[in-house]
Amino acid sequence: MNKQDVNRSKPQASPSMKETRRQIKIFKSKDELSRFFADYLKISVSKIPPDSFYSIALSGGSTPKTVFEYLANNSVEQIPWEKVKIFWGDERCVPPENEESNFRMTKESLLDKLPVSPENIFRIKGEEEPLTEAKRYSELVSENVFALQEIPGFDLILLGLGEDGHTASIFPGHLHLFESENLFESTENPYSKQKRISATGKIINNAKTVMFLVTGKSKAEMVANIIEKKQGWEVLPASFVKPFQAEVFWLLDEDAGSELLKKAL
Ligand code: 6PG
Repeated sequence: MNKQDVNRSKPQASPSMKETRRQIKIFKSKDELSRFFADYLKISVSKIPPDSFYSIALSGGSTPKTVFEYLANNSVEQIPWEKVKIFWGDERCVPPENEESNFRMTKESLLDKLPVSPENIFRIKGEEEPLTEAKRYSELVSENVFALQEIPGFDLILLGLGEDGHTASIFPGHLHLFESENLFESTENPYSKQKRISATGKIINNAKTVMFLVTGKSKAEMVANIIEKKQGWEVLPASFVKPFQAEVFWLLDEDAGSELLKKAL
């Protein structure tokens, strides 16, 4: 990890989005992280031609939720939401009104405050039989997301990071999901045995941009393990997020980036 790799982001009027393959940005607060994301999304969606759209796959988790709440409070007018098609990278196999549902979290923290038409919201139906739904959703994404080299290529995929190195709903011990020929698969949380539907490596690594949104001290060691390739990094699911042609952003608060900052000093 060299110094220039890690930069403490200052609040920026509009982020300079140098086209680099990986950007690690450490923010003083979740608010600054969220503001950066909101600026990035506004710039990206505004670049979309009039007759096209911006496809985003959302994530569950506490940091994405914080970012969604920021968008709901600050970016309803600033972003042309009618040009955005909203998908999910994973979902718990529960009904949409269940408190575990990523859709419910997104609806309450963001969607209910956005002028997005229902036909631009593509929910993973957690209430359906998992194998059937994984197949249905794979087909739905293929029909509604532009292809890059014949595989749907989301403009942006948001990812969280678990303390065990999981991302989306790809948990340790389930690395076969990065070899899958399917776009979405039925899987499970190995601790709770809760069934999940998750994007596989096939579609994650075909995105134009991938953004990890990670905050909190509890993630600092795992972030460093993955970014600095330490302590068994090669079997951590998030280590397998290596999009072929994309920018990968790690948006961290100072707590989550604290192990990286130690090295960069
Ligand atoms: C989910 C997410 C999952 C989440 C991480 C981090 O469905 O929960 O897909 O990958 O982003 O578990 O969650 P926290 O930010 O809440 O720790």
